[in-house]
Amino acid sequence: MNKSTVDSPVQPLAPGFSKLFSGSALADDLSEILITEPVLQARIAELGAQISADYADKDPVLVGVLRGMFIFMADLVRTITIPISVDFIGITRYGPSTRTHGIVRFVKDLDICIQNRHVLFVEDVIDTGMSLRYIMQSLRARHPASLHICTLFDKPRIRLFELDVAYTGFVLPDKFIVGYGLDYDERYRNLPFVGVLSDDAISRRRLPVGSQT
Ligand code: IMP
Ligand code: MG
Repeated sequence: MNKSTVDSPVQPLAPGFSKLFSGSALADDLSEILITEPVLQARIAELGAQISADYADKDPVLVGVLRGMFIFMADLVRTITIPISVDFIGITRYGPSTRTHGIVRFVKDLDICIQNRHVLFVEDVIDTGMSLRYIMQSLRARHPASLHICTLFDKPRIRLFELDVAYTGFVLPDKFIVGYGLDYDERYRNLPFVGVLSDDAISRRRLPVGSQT
């Protein structure tokens, strides 16, 4: 018998499940792991290669909306091999906490002037598209040379507004996901993989999903 297997205190892990988070309270709140760390990183490297080829000699500005994209942006820019700039905006959504009635307001604007610059908007997840529609209108009004969207996750089944997305990492079903920057009530952003929050974990906090940025 293999002694190290018998004595191991570590429970068997789901494939790709980060050992670091085995048995953690955060990971216990997930009903399933949707995308593992290696799968995420491999796809991001593909996006980075494509962006590097498409924007060669364009000196683009990558713009992200805080805070959900911070991990994706950090990993994506390290797979891009051409000169780029990076900037961030912050928004707040007001109004009733449903998917259709929020009002979007900027709470942090860009520091870089994007007039005549090639802008690539980097998003974590597109759900209804409401926030992004407002943001794109605002960015377009500043007359960039070009404006395109790169999203890591797309949930097109519940899209309320038509959006032209140039780069998509993963197309997902309409499930509330957390991890890799995405939160529920500000938790779970630090998980290095993406999982589905269990109904139990959602009901413990009683926040409607899809109401936050
Ligand atoms: P939209 O305006 O409905 O497209 O919402 C987009 C924003 O809602 C994203 O930038 C996220 O901050 C948040 N969001 C949408 N779906 C999820 C999810 O499944 N998990 C965590 N946050 C989400
Ligand atoms: Mg959020």
